[in-house]
Amino acid sequence: MIDYAKLAGKDIASLVAYQPGKPIDELKREYGLTDIIKLASNENPFGPSPKVLEAVKASLDEICRYPLGDAFHIRAAVAKNYDVPTDCLVFGSGSNEIIELLLRTYVKAGEHVVSPSPSFSVYGIIAQAMQTSCNWIPTGARFEVDLERLLAAINAKTRVVFLANPNNPTGTYIPENDLRAFVKRVPEETIIVMDEAYIEFADATDIPNTVHWYKEQPNMVMMRTFSKAYGLAGLRIGYMIGDAACCAMMNRVRQPFNTNMLAQVAAVAAIHDTEYLQNVIAGNLSGKKYLYEQFEALDLDYIPSQSNFIMVNVGNGKKVFESLLAKGVIARFYPAQGEYIRITIGTQKENETFISALKAVL
Ligand SMILES: Cc1ncc(COP(=O)(O)O)c(C=O)c1O
Repeated sequence: MIDYAKLAGKDIASLVAYQPGKPIDELKREYGLTDIIKLASNENPFGPSPKVLEAVKASLDEICRYPLGDAFHIRAAVAKNYDVPTDCLVFGSGSNEIIELLLRTYVKAGEHVVSPSPSFSVYGIIAQAMQTSCNWIPTGARFEVDLERLLAAINAKTRVVFLANPNNPTGTYIPENDLRAFVKRVPEETIIVMDEAYIEFADATDIPNTVHWYKEQPNMVMMRTFSKAYGLAGLRIGYMIGDAACCAMMNRVRQPFNTNMLAQVAAVAAIHDTEYLQNVIAGNLSGKKYLYEQFEALDLDYIPSQSNFIMVNVGNGKKVFESLLAKGVIARFYPAQGEYIRITIGTQKENETFISALKAVL
């Protein structure tokens, strides 16, 4: 018998694959339920803009052709939207692929990456799959990122620091002044990756928008995605903005047709529909306010969020998570944050359904 674990090597054999939020279909099969709401993967509950749907439908006949390898139209649209040169962009099949491209391009055996913990587990999964590692640095009592501890963990072998801002799963953020002071102290050969997957939802006045920071700080890059506020999670498209020389190396490593044609077309329509985006953001803010009020009425402690999800302390996270599943509500539970569940902010109807299920299970 072939020992594939041995062939893969110990890093891959010991790798724990990413655990996505439970799909609706799976819960239907397991529990025989018909009415299910999924508030587990920080997706956009309002769906994509109608203009996106029109653009995708109008392009369906073209799927026999390869997509534009350089993502020409969405590249031009993003460049214009943020006023950055077109060669300062890298596109990926979701920002997940950007994370992979970054590590494949820049992290070598014996080097490592650093991230606050908890944060987006994919940083560690990809690092380990590349036979390197992620040094997870604990956050504080209210999940605040400890920048001094992060700095202390950085050494000559630290090739990348990941900072999800706002962070997932906590919804916390690093204020602009703290980040400015931090980045100046990071060595030039450590790449600072700002993961701004949820930035569109943020309303704190002191949360930094780092789109242009790479100009003064060339070891800094910024990732964004169309999966969240733009509602295109199923199509897979995200991008990075950074120094042109940094992007050029990554574009050498990138698969030639890594973002699919429908994703490119949809993203162009989405970025132009600013009115729809504003409605999504407003819907998220009112859902957040409603959930805060409900948690307060139930005397539940929660972590104030700059994102489209909230960590709420329910005492026994695993039990509440499982009881909610039985009632057709899919939340998220992380064993390391045992007292909490994370709930994605849904439509008002979904939020109300979640709250009545929560009241029933508590
Ligand atoms: C912090 C963070 N970064 C990146 C991603 C990846 O998103 P995508 O690959 O869909 O762009 C996610 C997805 O949940 C996330 O939470």
